Amino acid sequence: MTPHDLETVLVAGATGETGREVLRLCGSRVDTVRALTRSPAAAPDLESIGADEVVVDDLLEPEDLAAVVDGVDAVVSAVGTAAAAVRSGPPYVDGAGTRALVAAAADAGVDAFAMESAIGVGPEPASRLARAFDAVIGPLQAAKAEAEDALRDAPICHTIVRPGVLTNGRRTDLVTAAEPGSKLWGTISRADVARLLVAAPVTEAANDRTFEAVSTPRFPDRDAGVDWTMPR
Ligand SMILES: NC(=O)c1ccc[n+]([C@@H]2O[C@H](COP(=O)([O-])OP(=O)(O)OC[C@H]3O[C@@H](n4cnc5c(N)ncnc54)[C@H](OP(=O)(O)O)[C@@H]3O)[C@@H](O)[C@H]2O)c1
Repeated sequence: MTPHDLETVLVAGATGETGREVLRLCGSRVDTVRALTRSPAAAPDLESIGADEVVVDDLLEPEDLAAVVDGVDAVVSAVGTAAAAVRSGPPYVDGAGTRALVAAAADAGVDAFAMESAIGVGPEPASRLARAFDAVIGPLQAAKAEAEDALRDAPICHTIVRPGVLTNGRRTDLVTAAEPGSKLWGTISRADVARLLVAAPVTEAANDRTFEAVSTPRFPDRDAGVDWTMPR
């Protein structure tokens, strides 16, 4: 997909802290930005930061995901479970919820899907930070791993971003995005993650790939060297 082909984007997790950064970035670059939330009351706020359309559904108890993804070129997913809710047990939106969205997107012929995952997800060698994630939120990490696998198996061009510890700092564009197993550790702002997620569908070198991502500290020797291109 070229930077000019991305006309309609669905942002799942749009009310979340990364999702809001995704909306802000898409607003001026994409013709139609559709925001997904479980909360109808969130619509005015989402529209004020870049959503052209707001759709209400719950990925764990969906009513009509076909309508949610109808006419969409790319899905950007930043859904997640609050750490405090881990003990409530599965199903988690990180796993079953994301898998449902992937299936609906595949059925609808969506071209691209960018997923925010987390450092430490997957079987590759991991940094001490990533292993700490696994120790603290293991069930969520396992759910994300299942969702990642479902996305890789789906007939959709995908990019999976596994960030380190998220901050609400400013966008720096100074990001190390490295192959899985690069053992990155550190922090990254949600705004920097949002840039990778929005760029992914139109960045050919990011197609069908998974990246660990941090911005502090930097690991220039481990960066995959992708030139992340924003939509027009
Ligand atoms: N915190 C960290 O340091 C860290 C590090 C690495 C990766 N991550 C991952 O990064 C992602 C984004 O984190 P964040 O803190 O930016 O997100 P967040 O603020 O926690 O937002 C989560 C979003 O998920 C949506 N959501 C939850 N359950 C849903 C459901 N059943 N159906 C539809 N939507 C649902 C919520 O939407 P509504 O409530 O509006 O429906 C909300 O917009 C998460 O997957 C997180 O695990 C976090």
